[in-house]
Amino acid sequence: MNMIKTANTLWTASDAAHAAGGDAHPDWKATGVSINTRTLQPGDLFIALQGPNVDGHDYVADAFEKGAAAAAVHHRPPVLDPDAPLLVVEDTMKALEDLGMEGRKRLDQGKVIAVTGSVGKTGVKEALKLVLGDQGKTSASVGSLNNHWGLPLSLARLPADADYAVLEMGMNHPGELTQLSRMGRPHVCVITTIAPAHTEFFKDTFEIADAKAEIFAGAEPGAIAVLNLDIPEFVRLHAAAQNAGMETVVTFGMDVYADFRVIAYELDGNGSLVTAATPVGTVTYRVGSPGLHWVLNSLCVLAAVYAAGGDVARAGESLADLSPPSGRGERFEIARDGGAFQLIDESYNASPAAMRAAMAVLAAQPVGAGGRRIVALGDMLEMGENSPSMHADLAEAIDANGIDLAFLAGTDMKHLWDALAKSKRGHFASDSEALAEVMQGAVRPGDVVMVKGSAGMKMGRVVDALKQGKG
Ligand SMILES: Nc1ncnc2c1ncn2[C@@H]1O[C@H](COP(=O)(O)OP(=O)(O)O)[C@@H](O)[C@H]1O
Ligand SMILES: [Mg+2]
Repeated sequence: MNMIKTANTLWTASDAAHAAGGDAHPDWKATGVSINTRTLQPGDLFIALQGPNVDGHDYVADAFEKGAAAAAVHHRPPVLDPDAPLLVVEDTMKALEDLGMEGRKRLDQGKVIAVTGSVGKTGVKEALKLVLGDQGKTSASVGSLNNHWGLPLSLARLPADADYAVLEMGMNHPGELTQLSRMGRPHVCVITTIAPAHTEFFKDTFEIADAKAEIFAGAEPGAIAVLNLDIPEFVRLHAAAQNAGMETVVTFGMDVYADFRVIAYELDGNGSLVTAATPVGTVTYRVGSPGLHWVLNSLCVLAAVYAAGGDVARAGESLADLSPPSGRGERFEIARDGGAFQLIDESYNASPAAMRAAMAVLAAQPVGAGGRRIVALGDMLEMGENSPSMHADLAEAIDANGIDLAFLAGTDMKHLWDALAKSKRGHFASDSEALAEVMQGAVRPGDVVMVKGSAGMKMGRVVDALKQGKG
């Protein structure tokens, strides 16, 4: 039986076997690709990856129960029906890469925009998805799927007729981005900014810049680099772009020489009003995500839209619809007896730059009568040997941003605790669970509380406690 492709078919059995080798039968067609049964959608091709702790082959039956159209496996799980639709390959990880590379090859006319940087990757990627989605068929990496399996997965999911493919690319080690860029073959390479994040494997931010510059390695001929002109590493990135054969570099920033530069901005609690000079004229627009870092991210987005051949003015208009993603600045008003307090949920992740950005947003946030500005912070992980001083240095930012009280959790946050003025010490706890208990009773009406820490610190527990607790 030869199945007819419908508009939504992403992979047929024969396409997949052609791309990845192996045996595909009986005939099947899939409308999506998944490597995780928890997020699998009916119609997906489930690829059973074998990890150090989990073997996807144990979940193949589960995938079919959830409506998977087929499964890619390197051995047939014994529980399966003999007629189960499979793609049997030698190595499922290699199959994922092959499908990714074929997905990229199938992209017909579309522009691939690769986004990396020390912070702001997911935010900029989501913003590009929003604004370009209004201008053409746009496909983007889901969540933070930006590594050696997230990227091929995103590519394997690309519809051939997409106008724009926005791909997040991340790295912890030198060499990783070279591989990802060669797989993604971008037309536009965006580096949001360089800052200490995952620094344990790098001597300084210049080494980080070199590793981020690997995003140029797989660039298509004629590709454009989008770079932040405000950072000291710009010169290094620019040279790397040129060495990689990129002829065009588009810059953004506060710097007066930036192609996309801020002329004026006004911050408020929910976003900013920005006027920017661009190569296609002055634009004024609203960004629906608060903070100076979002003023800069918005310029990065407009520069990337420009580099991809999109409509800059229209993209500016779309930025009003932006909202902070879950755990990255989401806002809540929590009712308490006697009045409400505000909660800013930044629990998704943290690095020194992101901590400072979030504190600046808190500084701009008006407090209610009798209210205070409060931070609840967990350790910034993977910061390497300078981690203690990176934590202690946040005391300055706490002072500069008019923050009244700090509640801290984690081994490294002890260094910040010791550096804080006594009047600003709320409570120190060894972990977020213990801090969550204390925080419940520590907040009063009118307060604004910002919660942030590395994902591994699970500061979401503090957020949950604040949402539920009775004051
Ligand atoms: N340009 C920026 N400069 C400083 N901090 C930023 C910037 N963009 C985002 N952030 C902060 O970094 C955090 C992580 O953002 P995200 O977009 O998820 O980055 P990534 O995907 O690179 O980890 C956000 O919570 C935000 O506070
Ligand atoms: Mg991310």
